[in-house]
Amino acid sequence: MRKVKEQALVTYTVNRPAEMPFWNEIVCGDSADLLKLISADSVDLVITSPPYFQQREYDGGGVGNEKKPDDYIFALMKIFRECVRVIKPTGSIVFNIGDKYEDSSLLLMPYKFAIAATEQCGVTLVNNVTWVKSNPTPRQFKRRLVSSTEPFFHFVKSQKYKYFIDEFLKPADESKPNGNGTGENVGKKYFLLIEQSKLTSKQKEMARNALEEVIEEVRNSEIQGFRMKIRGIHSEPFGGQEGGRKIQLDKNGFTIIRIYGNPMKKDVIATPVESLKNCPHPAIYPVKIVDEFIKLLTQRGDVVLDPFVGSGSTAVATYQNERAYIGFDISEEYCLYAQKRLSSVKYQLSLWERNDAANA
Ligand SMILES: C[S@@+](CC[C@H](N)C(=O)[O-])C[C@H]1O[C@@H](n2cnc3c(N)ncnc32)[C@H](O)[C@@H]1O
Repeated sequence: MRKVKEQALVTYTVNRPAEMPFWNEIVCGDSADLLKLISADSVDLVITSPPYFQQREYDGGGVGNEKKPDDYIFALMKIFRECVRVIKPTGSIVFNIGDKYEDSSLLLMPYKFAIAATEQCGVTLVNNVTWVKSNPTPRQFKRRLVSSTEPFFHFVKSQKYKYFIDEFLKPADESKPNGNGTGENVGKKYFLLIEQSKLTSKQKEMARNALEEVIEEVRNSEIQGFRMKIRGIHSEPFGGQEGGRKIQLDKNGFTIIRIYGNPMKKDVIATPVESLKNCPHPAIYPVKIVDEFIKLLTQRGDVVLDPFVGSGSTAVATYQNERAYIGFDISEEYCLYAQKRLSSVKYQLSLWERNDAANA
């Protein structure tokens, strides 16, 4: 095993258990061996994307180029079994695997893997979360459609698994739906905007009254939040299409959109395939997806492990969420790249922190 030393500055420290090796490290080696060095029931989340079956030659060899599908599943299961051993009873395992065509037929490799995992390792498959790629590789087939989805399987080994559903796919502005929080300042900015608008004085009075009414609804927790659109200040709702809100805007000069509760949490994540400038790794997965699973399944300070860390996407998402990462990869080149990528993310974050402190 060759171990690559962590060089980057670590600004965030959590309580590292004495028996936990590879804390906040990217380590070069075969996961089948490295996982054995980790104690049972010590990791909060394993999230990873192993090499797909016969998809490409990676720099360091490893899993993926077996001759037959069964041999590939066998090699994967060797590592998956270790993942099950190392996660805590409150932990989760998320595996992303893509499919492969052979003789014009899909092999259903992801599902063969999921069946083997549930049958051989006693895990429960909580969800098959579908990643919808908004920018799949541009290709055109005459006799089939372009594949633009991949599964992320969420497994647990006990029903005690941590789960923070409100954190999953949280709208960016959910915490402050009216742009001013829900305290004393709720909706205050809209009063200013009403004054600045070109509404008539009668319309301004109506707008202020309606605003006071909706603020009261938020304070009484009757609604979660609201947005107000004022003619001449905000863009037209719904792309300016004809409809009730457009009529209200034309007639009254404003409209109020009430937000009644959390959107349904569905098993779909739509996000583009990522590419990184000068990245030697040919198949990275989106940090955004890892970020969502980390928020859904772990808490600040928890340990997240990726046994096929490649370019370091999992470690980046983990660090950004103030969890501790452990990343393994068989390729020294990818390990070094992942470390460089992490150093740059840490440096950027430290600059923002310094900037925030200076502006506080
Ligand atoms: C699909 S890539 C992972 C990409 C990663 N999710 C990212 O965003 O960069 C799979 C990785 O597994 C590594 N690999 C293959 N077999 C391995 C093994 N036995 N142990 C550790 N790493 C292995 C390959 O070098 C490759 O980087």
